[in-house]
Amino acid sequence: MIYPVEELQNRINIYISEIPIIRPPAELYKPIEYVMSIGGKRVRPILLLLAYNLFDDDLSVALPPAAGIEIFHNYTLLHDDLMDRADMRRGKKTVHRVWNDNTAILSGDAMFVIAYQYIAKVPTFHLKEILELFSVTAREICEGQQYDVDFEARNDVQAEEYIEMIRLKTAVLLAVSLKMGGILGGASSMDADLLYEFGIHIGLAFQLKDDYLDVYGDPAVFGKNTGGDILCNKKTYMLIRALEEANKEQLAALTFWLNATDYKPIEKIKNVTNLYNQIGVKVCCEEKMKEYYDAALSVLDKISVEKTKKAELINMVHNLMYREI
Ligand code: IPE
Ligand code: IPE
Ligand code: MG
Ligand code: MG
Ligand code: MG
Repeated sequence: MIYPVEELQNRINIYISEIPIIRPPAELYKPIEYVMSIGGKRVRPILLLLAYNLFDDDLSVALPPAAGIEIFHNYTLLHDDLMDRADMRRGKKTVHRVWNDNTAILSGDAMFVIAYQYIAKVPTFHLKEILELFSVTAREICEGQQYDVDFEARNDVQAEEYIEMIRLKTAVLLAVSLKMGGILGGASSMDADLLYEFGIHIGLAFQLKDDYLDVYGDPAVFGKNTGGDILCNKKTYMLIRALEEANKEQLAALTFWLNATDYKPIEKIKNVTNLYNQIGVKVCCEEKMKEYYDAALSVLDKISVEKTKKAELINMVHNLMYREI
């Protein structure tokens, strides 16, 4: 049978809530329970389960690695929020704000290990392949995060470099979730590779939308403070395209804000957003997202499973594209 997305979300949430996390020392494990219990969209484990469910419906095989992937994702958020000096996530204070920087580092490290423990619960037959896939991905995410930081200090980042950076920091984790789900469900290696390719397109669109919401989202819905990327001079697709498309005055104004050191944060956010609106980069970003979304659907089409079985996956991807959170 094919499970509806809501059912899969329910199953993964129940599975995660039953993971015994708390034990001494409380200061190490409390932040893990905190971040895991606030929840989130659970995109990656749901993608894993949806891909698995294309081929099999015994979810007990896929739930532990799905939880492992979600724990890993949450670990990256603890460190990412520290690196980005972000105060809010999922409508609550970030771990380094509730506790401190060291807590975000060490509780994050523990989560990385717990993630491996859950991923290693896959059937022995698949263990070596899954661990290698996951390890390669975890390293790529570090590479993507490093490029993200490196790009803050550069004003000549090209759109292709940005796409490669978000492929590494974000898309590979969605892609590997889908591929792992496929492998565990018994997909052929060709279908498993197509699931990965599908996930890369989805992941690129997903990060483009995240960057878009960082400017245009409603913090009460998005759950994160907006404008953070503008304040850090993050080289998002919108900023790169704005630098490319700006006229002389707009370019001078953008350059002023990129180099400014003494300013009120809300002023910088307001002025850069106004420049984005004048230059028209909102539409550029929407078009790029649509391009990846369409590319994803055409890859999905090639997977050798009846079309009707793919409906939940298509539904999920549609909801990710048009999300406000
Ligand atoms: C946030 O991921 C980090 C990015 C890669 C954009 P999500 O948007 O999936 O965050 P949660 O887990 O739903 O909070
Ligand atoms: C996050 O990118 C990528 C990873 C966590 C690896 P962002 O820095 O844009 O994610 P948010 O917006 O803080 O969730
Ligand atoms: Mg961040
Ligand atoms: Mg970041
Ligand atoms: Mg973001």
